Amino acid sequence: MRKENTRNLIDIRDLSTKEIDDLIKVANDIILHKEAYAHKCDGKILATLFFEPSTRTRLSFESAMLRLGGKVLGFSEAASSSTAKGETLADTIETVSGYADIIAMRHPKEGAPIVAAKKSFIPIINAGDGGHNHPTQTLTDLLTISRKKGRLENLTIGLCGDLKFGRTIHSLISAMVRYKNIKFILISPKELRLPEYMIKEVLDKNKIEYIETDNMEKYMKDLDILYMTRVQKERFFNEEDYMRLKDYYILDKKKLSTAKEDLCIMHPLPRVNEIATEVDEDERATYFEQAYNGVYIRMALILKCLEGRK
Ligand code: CP
Repeated sequence: MRKENTRNLIDIRDLSTKEIDDLIKVANDIILHKEAYAHKCDGKILATLFFEPSTRTRLSFESAMLRLGGKVLGFSEAASSSTAKGETLADTIETVSGYADIIAMRHPKEGAPIVAAKKSFIPIINAGDGGHNHPTQTLTDLLTISRKKGRLENLTIGLCGDLKFGRTIHSLISAMVRYKNIKFILISPKELRLPEYMIKEVLDKNKIEYIETDNMEKYMKDLDILYMTRVQKERFFNEEDYMRLKDYYILDKKKLSTAKEDLCIMHPLPRVNEIATEVDEDERATYFEQAYNGVYIRMALILKCLEGRK
């Protein structure tokens, strides 16, 4: 019963470019023909195991399975599971594998989904592991970019905020480097720069053009996409550093004055102060649409992971 033909998603690099393009196609079809998908997962159960807080990822996964006709179970914090009694992740996963058909899990420890996949005999989807990866956010982002811009190639992408611990940033870069003529403007304070392994192993290895800067305004006019991120309190070791850096970038109407008319402003959310609410009424603000798209791409992903399984 264990692991044969089990399709996991731990890292965005687990998917080929064709598979990503196919998922985007299916998500677009679901958006147009929702009723055709309403019973595709009748009798199937999704377990959402969230050892870290979430609004969008957990609820959009649950909404996705419910919209496919399936059912959901799970927990939204480690404290309400037997993890609080000292149970290992491996034992939790082995147990839940017998209760559900597919697992979406979020965990504060980098690499936890790999441990889970070794124990599980049903598909494991990484819904975020520490400051490492968030592949389903990236699928959401790719669907959003392709719907807004009509392409995933020939884009100048500004990534702004916490590039060090931002798992959505790491996964998005890892995905975008496979498309033609992508240029990154990496905007962060020096303490939150993109990790060296991402520069060497992902950007340099793929010969991707990039600029590192702490100046958002300087490059605003060049951007096709501005991807803002939150400075994440939960990843800091001391309060003092967090307080110093948390409001380093606040995007407002004035800062957008030189931006392209078709700039796409994205954010994985939740936001704290990094985008002023006055920007929400700007037609270029795409972040809530991005959150809604998460349901459809996760529907497509669930279908793919369950394909051919009894
Ligand atoms: N984007 C994202 O992962 O949001 P949540 O933390 O609310 O799931």
